[in-house]
Amino acid sequence: MRTPIIAGNWKLNNTISESLELVKGIHYGLTDVSGVEVVVAPTYTAISKVADFLKDSAIAVSGQDVFWEDSGAFTATISAPLLKDVGADYAIIGHSERRQYFGETDEMVNKRVKAALKHNLIPIVCVGETLEEREAEQVEKVVNTQLSGGLAGLTSEEIAELVIAYEPVWAIGTGKTASPEQAEEVHQLIRNIVASDFGQEAADKVRILYGGSVKPANSKELMSQPNIDGALVGGASLKADDFLGIIKNI
Ligand code: 13P
Repeated sequence: MRTPIIAGNWKLNNTISESLELVKGIHYGLTDVSGVEVVVAPTYTAISKVADFLKDSAIAVSGQDVFWEDSGAFTATISAPLLKDVGADYAIIGHSERRQYFGETDEMVNKRVKAALKHNLIPIVCVGETLEEREAEQVEKVVNTQLSGGLAGLTSEEIAELVIAYEPVWAIGTGKTASPEQAEEVHQLIRNIVASDFGQEAADKVRILYGGSVKPANSKELMSQPNIDGALVGGASLKADDFLGIIKNI
């Protein structure tokens, strides 16, 4: 039985006070909710204050990225020990915005995943195809390449503990959600790839989240698919009521 995860990726949004207001709204709205892990990924200027507020809460904190070195002359990066230091338990890795705007490759994703695991941060590894790739019927090839590159050299035990997020690039921030059938098809594919590369036990345990224009109105149907174990939410995670609606729908 896989415990579902609803994670909010706040991206480049919210001052410290806006972040605290948002996280308070989520925290106090969750009193009657169980059986789901809730994660928030604030900006680096707000993460420490948000994590302090959540210290005694069941809501976990995530970095939006993590660098592979622990410390040193690496301007503008964040490391796994620094994320652990503020109280984070997760790190989003290889988000399509990192790939698109910052040139992130599968090899870099792999180094980040290994650094996160070394310091007991749970990686949320993002994969997904662009619209052109979907139209060219390249979904399987793209996802396979991203997974084999990003997860290279990991053990089955490590795979079982991490989280994969399928985020079709054409569905991110566009209002165009993958249909539950489209999403389930790729989630099943991802689980099959994990099974053939790392074994059935790892495939049964790994949690696979869907991301891309998830909102309360579409989350129930998406989350009821057998291979969808939760959501990585962007825009709708910036409003406490919407985020709570998605969590409660699961
Ligand atoms: P939206 O929910 O805004 O489409 O963003 C999805 C996403 O990129 C989460 O990481």
